[in-house]
Amino acid sequence: MPIVAPSLLASDFLRLGDECKMLNESKADWFHLDVMDGRFVPNISYGMPIIKQLRQASTKFFDVHLMIVEPEKYFEEFKDAGANSLTVHLEVSPHLHRNIQHIKSLGMKAGVALNPATPVCLLKDIISDLDLVLIMSVNPGFGGQSFIRHSIPKIKELKKLIQDTGSVSKIEVDGGISLENAAEIVHVGADILVAGSSIFKADDPKQMIEKFKAI
Ligand code: DX5
Ligand code: ZN
Repeated sequence: MPIVAPSLLASDFLRLGDECKMLNESKADWFHLDVMDGRFVPNISYGMPIIKQLRQASTKFFDVHLMIVEPEKYFEEFKDAGANSLTVHLEVSPHLHRNIQHIKSLGMKAGVALNPATPVCLLKDIISDLDLVLIMSVNPGFGGQSFIRHSIPKIKELKKLIQDTGSVSKIEVDGGISLENAAEIVHVGADILVAGSSIFKADDPKQMIEKFKAI
């Protein structure tokens, strides 16, 4: 059964309290929170004040996806805001090992995200230290985009790297996931499915989450 992580980005920002309540009552495991800075990605989303308030209303694991440059400047603040895991992008982290250790030392799970054009082989020397790898299956910055098919062989390659190295890292896939492609994504090795539009734009989001769980 995959871990299902609805992405806040597609929710109704005027009704965040209700959205939290809906998720609390649902079978969702994690709450995926996309932080964007308008520099690493061409969009700006939300930051610590929103996450801190959501924390008061949500019982779910907070999976924070940092699409920002110099993410290490803010690890303590995200921890204080209520993050349970922090995922940084490999493309903005020349000191990845240091960043991962820093996140873990604060008591959070640590992840690395790869853009569609970033190869899995770059993880070889860090995979044993990771709790999760996030494969971006769209270009980061926006919800509602189409799944990039090349993500499938990347997930397979990552699964093999994890098995070959004995890493405990989970595989998270993010972007363009729907009921149409979720089964294949899980079949090739994904442990965690992030879904924004397909859950929050559904007529019945709770039922949609159940369908993802049943994959
Ligand atoms: C995109 C974000 C995703 C986004 C996914 O940069 O990382 O988490 O919310 O949205 P959908 O599921 O609509 O593609
Ligand atoms: Zn994300």
